[in-house]
Amino acid sequence: MDKFVIAGGARLKGAVRVSGSKNAALPIMAACILAQGKTVLKNVPRLFDIEILSEILGKLGVSVKRLPNSDMEIQVIDDSKCVADYDLVSKMRASICVLGPLLAKRHEAKVSLPGGCVIGVRPIDLHIKGLSAFGANITVEHGYVVARAKKLKSAEIYLGGMFGSTVTGTANILMAAVLAEGTTIIENAACEPEVADLAGFLNKMGAKIKGIGTHKLLVKGVRRLKAVTYSIIPDRIEAGTFMVAAAVTNGNITIENCIAEHLTAVIDKLREIGVTVNKKKNSCQVIGTDRIKPVYISTLPYPGFPTDMQAQFCSLLSLADGISVITERVYPDRFMHVAELNRMGANIKKEGESAVIVGVKKLSGAQVIASDLRASAALVLAGLVAEGQTEITRVYHIDRGYEKIEEKFNKLGARIQRKLDKKLIVVEEK
Ligand code: EPU
Repeated sequence: MDKFVIAGGARLKGAVRVSGSKNAALPIMAACILAQGKTVLKNVPRLFDIEILSEILGKLGVSVKRLPNSDMEIQVIDDSKCVADYDLVSKMRASICVLGPLLAKRHEAKVSLPGGCVIGVRPIDLHIKGLSAFGANITVEHGYVVARAKKLKSAEIYLGGMFGSTVTGTANILMAAVLAEGTTIIENAACEPEVADLAGFLNKMGAKIKGIGTHKLLVKGVRRLKAVTYSIIPDRIEAGTFMVAAAVTNGNITIENCIAEHLTAVIDKLREIGVTVNKKKNSCQVIGTDRIKPVYISTLPYPGFPTDMQAQFCSLLSLADGISVITERVYPDRFMHVAELNRMGANIKKEGESAVIVGVKKLSGAQVIASDLRASAALVLAGLVAEGQTEITRVYHIDRGYEKIEEKFNKLGARIQRKLDKKLIVVEEK
């Protein structure tokens, strides 16, 4: 198992190119279950989570081939298979996104319940509610969601839960609605750019979706969908992470392949903090500041401040000149990084759904453990600016969602080494 050893203190400078969006690529790959023929996806990041979904699709009779660059070719070979096993689904929660397309195209799906993870309980009640509205019979048996429907009939579906809408839930309902008979209305749909990208892909395949990018989607069902070539949007969270890297190291980074309008809430907060952000056509230049001002942030569904940037801002605001508060309204328990940042000298207290961050003058390098994807990114950011050396174990979490992260950072002047952590292998193999 790998670990990162980071020598802190470098001010990052230069240009970096953002990869394709993980969270857009995953449902779009699943949507290929609906297509006839060979789909070519462009800008698909090379990530562990993408490999897991490729494996799941393989077991569902879908051939997934990597082409040169970041292209991928996907084609259904055998559409008789309907089971996504626990072994693979338990490795990645987002695998639940095969449920909607399997039910719509193969009329049957048996997908392992993904369970919770370190960022929270993560139920799928809204997915089940939405798919049931099409007339499907859905039960939970022996840890699996079992869904059956001879045909799907259009429905009016309200997708609101305690924490707002659901991104993957909206994706699942949308992928079922495109082949359902009649016109489906999805109210309180998630309008994250990744959902809009999926809808754009489905429309290119021949679906009839209106209201893309809003909370109300109107979907007129069609009989079939064709395979197409499609390019995935850039990863807004990777771009946001590099923005924070520029801010926390007081550097100057130009982030290429970046759609600034997907990051409006993040850019707004960076500016409030005192960071300079120059938006360009397909890129953004971010210049740090000598004095990081404290701010108040609440994470919210899009276009609010993304929960996937909360941990990175905890690192940044640890060095602010004053007290900041970040309230987590999407995953109230997503604060595993707090204890690790405190080991590096941060002064953060968790108060209910909030992190109260008292700015300190400096962070100091320490041995820390990555608990999940965005928490790992936060620790890397802290390590970049900390005095001395930081060792981060369990960096496989970061490989799930950031392509060649240390290479990209090192090109900007960071000093990150990837090393094999032999100790950890022994511990985990016991
Ligand atoms: N929720 C329910 N019931 C449901 C579904 C969700 O109560 O049936 C709750 C969740 O527990 C949570 C909130 O609604 O409190 C939002 O969950 P959502 O379903 O939107 O999350 P998701 O689709 O499982 C995606 C991203 C996450 C990102 C969230 C929020 C993918 C593959 N994952 O998860 O990304 O944090 O939306 O924006 O798209 C990450 O990339 O690190 C990551 C965790």
